[in-house]
Amino acid sequence: MSAFSALSGKDFAMFFKKKKPSAIDMENLPKHIGVIMDGNGRWAKKRGLPRSAGHKAGADSLKKIVTACNKMGIRYITVYAFSTENWSRPKEEVDYLMNLLLGYLRDAENTLAGENVVIRAIGSRAELSEEIQEQIIKTEAFTANNTGIVMNIALNYGAREELTTAVRGIADDVQKGEITVGDISPELISSRLYTGGQPDPDLLIRTSGEIRLSNFMLWQLAYSEMYFTDKLWPDFTVRDLEDAIIEYQRRNRRFGGV
Ligand code: FPP
Repeated sequence: MSAFSALSGKDFAMFFKKKKPSAIDMENLPKHIGVIMDGNGRWAKKRGLPRSAGHKAGADSLKKIVTACNKMGIRYITVYAFSTENWSRPKEEVDYLMNLLLGYLRDAENTLAGENVVIRAIGSRAELSEEIQEQIIKTEAFTANNTGIVMNIALNYGAREELTTAVRGIADDVQKGEITVGDISPELISSRLYTGGQPDPDLLIRTSGEIRLSNFMLWQLAYSEMYFTDKLWPDFTVRDLEDAIIEYQRRNRRFGGV
């Protein structure tokens, strides 16, 4: 009698079903995680609270997730905090988000920096208030020598703006004779993005059930694994993060090969 014929029908099915691992393989962590933190407004609405309460809860959630990623040994996290399109929201909400970001950057010097996090802002700074621009410079300098996770806060960020700025810079260099058209390569373009010098995200997480990229890291996400969850961002826990990483580790990444 073979080993298989001793199994009942149900056991047989179980035997062949790929068992979902319940623990993270620490040898196969994503180096870089991108996060579209969506659903703050709906989280607040469900509770009869103003949208600002959702953003505040979202900022708290972010701190927990960054701390957990750092402890796990993930090297980079990029979070979409304010897009180039978010200016079209009501002024009250934009002002609230800007104040929250300012406070977050200030606090980060005491909290996240104490955890050895390197904080960087990516996006177009010119449209931000002088106060925020100055705070970004301070927080970046204050955390520059840390050795833990690099946290890119995408602030007034849009991938099309990022690519347009990069292309303009490259065209300018060609015009000045510093490089030739033949020097333009995918590596050169990558190096001119806000994330220049960093690895591309291995994993993108988007919360709240929306399945789109919304102008986030369009170049860098070319070969990233996508993880979409219905959880609203303020409800997204460290356990949810672990589930996303476990799912990422089950994927067979081929980068266009076989
Ligand atoms: C999307 O949810 C979220 C944003 C536009 C802002 C993200 C900001 C935070 C998570 C908090 C602040 C971040 C930092 C770094 C301090 P939504 O408002 O579009 O939600 P909805 O789709 O449910 O309306």
